[in-house]
Amino acid sequence: MTAGKVKKAVFPVAGLGTRFLPATKAVPKEMMTVVDKPVIQYVVEEAIEAGIEHFVFVTGRNKAVIEDYFDIQYELESTLKARNKNAELDLLSSILPKAGSTSFTRQQEPLGLGHAVWCARDIVGNEPFAVLLPDMIMKSEVACLRGMVDLHAVSGGNVIAVEECAPELAHRYGIVARGDTVGDGFRITGMVEKPAKGTQPSNFFINGRYILQPEIFDILETQERGAGNEIQITDAMLKLLKQQDFTAYHYKGVTYDTGAKDGFIMANIAFALDRPDIRGLVEADLKALVAALK
Ligand code: UTP
Repeated sequence: MTAGKVKKAVFPVAGLGTRFLPATKAVPKEMMTVVDKPVIQYVVEEAIEAGIEHFVFVTGRNKAVIEDYFDIQYELESTLKARNKNAELDLLSSILPKAGSTSFTRQQEPLGLGHAVWCARDIVGNEPFAVLLPDMIMKSEVACLRGMVDLHAVSGGNVIAVEECAPELAHRYGIVARGDTVGDGFRITGMVEKPAKGTQPSNFFINGRYILQPEIFDILETQERGAGNEIQITDAMLKLLKQQDFTAYHYKGVTYDTGAKDGFIMANIAFALDRPDIRGLVEADLKALVAALK
């Protein structure tokens, strides 16, 4: 097990996004916009806030636009320059990652999240790393991954972000079992993916942010299939839990699952209401819409 700073983050973006067909036939779900930014931008910003220095994208077929998004667009930029659109130019340069700080690798077949993470093994190497599910975007005072990195500096080992859910919804999620308190979090003593109703060991669900030790790659190497005949990250973490500590970071902000239609729409509303330039209009229209509901 290796200690030290978490410098690399893996973004698995190779899924098919079937819940968002037909849009995802041509547009990766990670590029769908919440207000005016692609979903992936929110997640990369969270990683930057947490001090991440290298961004590893595990892409797939039809995802090339993600790589283009994190590059310079000369034609557009020279047109903006010619038209003195300085605010727009500043915006584009503010979101451009530092040269050499991104890597793109392909998951040739969507064999599951665990498999997508395993595809990043050579780029990550032998150090702890973060995994951020790009369809989960978060709104909180302290960025979720920032809180996790701070906890990891104290706890070492593996850190998983968790949130509390209503007990009757626990069967939808990966749930952890709670042990002793550690800093802002607690030791994880077990994990179960989608427990049968009433059997959950707690109401703390895994929300899509992980800091993992590189030994997870050795476990994923076995390519063992789990639920849905996919290579599951939770199965690999359960095995690693027998050898290493896992600590839960209790995230207390709001998470939007933009991979689901309701979560995507709610994220657009919530982030629009946060924007001083459009808040007034959106709020007025929203109130009228709600008032007209029967
Ligand atoms: P999801 O199951 O939410 O994404 O995986 P999906 O499969 O794209 O969506 P649906 O269910 O068909 O609508 C969570 C994250 O893991 C990535 C996805 O891109 C998503 O960001 N993923 C999933 C991979 O990169 N590879 C996979 O084989 C599976």
